[in-house]
Amino acid sequence: MRRVVVTGAGGQLGVELVRRAPVGVEVIGLDRTALDIGDGVAVHRAMRDTRPSAIINAGAYTAVDRAESEPDAAHRANAEGPRHLAAAAAATGARLLHVSTDFVFDGGKSSPYLPEDDTAPLGVYGASKLAGEQAVRDTAGVDALIVRTGWVYSAHGQNFVKTMLRLMRERPEVRVVADQIGTPTSTATLADTLWTLLDRDAPSGTYHCSDAGVASWYDFAYAIRELAQASSGEQLAPVRPIATADYPTPARRPAYSVLDKTTTWAITGMAPHWREPLRAVIDELVR
Ligand SMILES: NC(=O)c1ccc[n+]([C@@H]2O[C@H](COP(=O)([O-])OP(=O)(O)OC[C@H]3O[C@@H](n4cnc5c(N)ncnc54)[C@H](OP(=O)(O)O)[C@@H]3O)[C@@H](O)[C@H]2O)c1
Repeated sequence: MRRVVVTGAGGQLGVELVRRAPVGVEVIGLDRTALDIGDGVAVHRAMRDTRPSAIINAGAYTAVDRAESEPDAAHRANAEGPRHLAAAAAATGARLLHVSTDFVFDGGKSSPYLPEDDTAPLGVYGASKLAGEQAVRDTAGVDALIVRTGWVYSAHGQNFVKTMLRLMRERPEVRVVADQIGTPTSTATLADTLWTLLDRDAPSGTYHCSDAGVASWYDFAYAIRELAQASSGEQLAPVRPIATADYPTPARRPAYSVLDKTTTWAITGMAPHWREPLRAVIDELVR
């Protein structure tokens, strides 16, 4: 039986990875209290003790706006963490699957970002995640896959879908930016993609993962409302499109961060259109 350690196992993706572990895999999920990936000694000890054949890192500092005022905390989890994991993976011969973000790009393109496109993060979170990618690539002797994703949501944890449902119940209307374009990604798609890349011995390198299709945050919110109302019969507040300039946030975000998944899908098969897994998550949340 193949033993795989999942770090950050208490987060949205971590929970889903443990839940969707394939038959024949013994999964050891370690949440932040069980393993702080920013602690190099603890990381090496954990991997020496468990001797996994692969490590999937789902742990990260993900508070994009708060990172602007907490750069050290972001760097510790997002840059130092992957560096320790890569070193421990190299030392024990484990494969490392490390998850990164579309926010390593500046959003200046108008066609989907390729894995090899130039990176230029706009904020502290993106810069810390890019430093984590670089630390993994720079580690001698590590067999690693870096899998970038974006706009991640699930039925558990904190995310845009749950925030929208709450606001649509509390407010007379919900204003959502319509000029940032990307693709929602369900943790189901992301977890299945990671397990499949591992199972099919995908070559080491950088991959992109999201569901299929494209949306603005406004489109995403509109679909959340439409699917939730259809599923529950509940009347929810309408959604109004606004410009990023009308919704200032501490962190700048890329205006366009659609990812090109061609190389990933050649191995895993195409992901569903983002509305399909969204429907399943909404059903779980509102029924
Ligand atoms: N969420 C998104 O929209 C999004 C977009 C692009 C990429 N990603 C990437 O996707 C991956 C999974 O994100 P997610 O959505 O599952 O995020 P999440 O729900 O915030 O989960 C991240 C988990 O990592 C844990 N963590 C934080 N610092 C840690 C440390 N030092 N050691 C061990 N664990 C630590 C967190 O624990 P605490 O809660 O206790 O802090 C949390 O359980 C991350 O690499 C993230 O950067 C996410």
